[in-house]
Amino acid sequence: MSKVKLNLIAAACENMGIGVNGTLPWKLKKEMAYFTTMTTKVKDESKLNAVIMGRITWDCIPDKYRPLNNRVNIVMTHHIDEVKAKVPEGVIVVPSLDEAVKYIEGREDIESTWVIGGSSIYKAAMEHENCGKIYLTEIQRSFDCDAFFPNIDKQQFHLVDEEEIPGERQLEGDISYFFRVYRKL
Ligand SMILES: NC(=O)c1ccc[n+]([C@@H]2O[C@H](COP(=O)([O-])OP(=O)(O)OC[C@H]3O[C@@H](n4cnc5c(N)ncnc54)[C@H](OP(=O)(O)O)[C@@H]3O)[C@@H](O)[C@H]2O)c1
Repeated sequence: MSKVKLNLIAAACENMGIGVNGTLPWKLKKEMAYFTTMTTKVKDESKLNAVIMGRITWDCIPDKYRPLNNRVNIVMTHHIDEVKAKVPEGVIVVPSLDEAVKYIEGREDIESTWVIGGSSIYKAAMEHENCGKIYLTEIQRSFDCDAFFPNIDKQQFHLVDEEEIPGERQLEGDISYFFRVYRKL
């Protein structure tokens, strides 16, 4: 097995929704900052992290925020040429998760790899032999959604304590949530 660990990061509401109409169903600034910090921070400052996303998630990121800065952006699509022609230089376009892993293996300057959605990309990563942890923000409310986080099989994924992740309930406006981490056994 390759040394590339796939860590997933997502925010999901009570009904496991992650998105609606190509956008997030909620506006949570601090939660977004957590996503940015987690996916960007490195121990070795000469390295970068990679983020792997589906083509729709790429399309959903406002122009001014993409590519996500200080991270190697990798977009998965079945329409390689079409998508390559649309994305800025430096964005990597791949036809599968295995190809994304291969690409990352070929670079010495990538420290951590984050799978950032959406649904089918999360599912593929959870089933992949290189799957590591799921960093899931559990929002304590239901929202109307049309994209969902896949079922987490609790036989395979166990809740773990991570020292650097705040364990207490987070509150933003009238929405509360917890930062949880699951590890694949
Ligand atoms: N709450 C969160 O943490 C979070 C995170 C991410 C996204 N979101 C939300 O989720 C929604 C988007 O997610 P989504 O599930 O609809 O779409 P998505 O997973 O981002 O993108 C789906 C696309 O990815 C490509 N793809 C999927 N599986 C593939 C595979 N095995 N090989 C190659 N390409 C593959 C295909 O692109 P082509 O059609 O180009 O072939 C497919 O149409 C938005 O509402 C977004 O805001 C939320």
